[in-house]
Amino acid sequence: MPYKLTVNGQSKTVDTPPDMPLLWVLRDVLNMKGTKFGCGIGQCGACTVQIGGQARRACQTQISAVNAPITTIEGLSADGSHPLQKAWLELDVPQCGYCQAGQLMSAAALLASKPKPTDADIDQAMTGNVCRCGTYLRIREAIHLAANGGRKA
Ligand code: FES
Ligand code: FES
Repeated sequence: MPYKLTVNGQSKTVDTPPDMPLLWVLRDVLNMKGTKFGCGIGQCGACTVQIGGQARRACQTQISAVNAPITTIEGLSADGSHPLQKAWLELDVPQCGYCQAGQLMSAAALLASKPKPTDADIDQAMTGNVCRCGTYLRIREAIHLAANGGRKA
């Protein structure tokens, strides 16, 4: 069945079953591979995108339930210039990198709603984003750096 979506500001029409997870639509139908498949059961956060500005697990969101514009890692900025992307680079946050698209999308949703988050805010917002490489402390530092306009506290 056809579904009209707005993905990173662009209109797309996809023809899929209503229960196809958004993660499948993005990766296999629209060929947007930035959003990662991790667990497929809502436990790891690797597939996090924003729907209407809220962080959502694409593996747990059926296409028929999408009712607002989608932003993926490819749309976070046109050229890697989002303050979080710059902070991520400055602090060398990623290791293997697999979880990082999801981390960034959760962090961006947090900063959009809370421009100056505390450590507790960050821990709460990021708790569902698992990093097997253990980059949590650098993620937290990078969120603070981005929130601080790129200046170290
Ligand atoms: S792949 Fe969606 S939460 Fe793990
Ligand atoms: S950087 Fe490797 S899983 Fe997070």
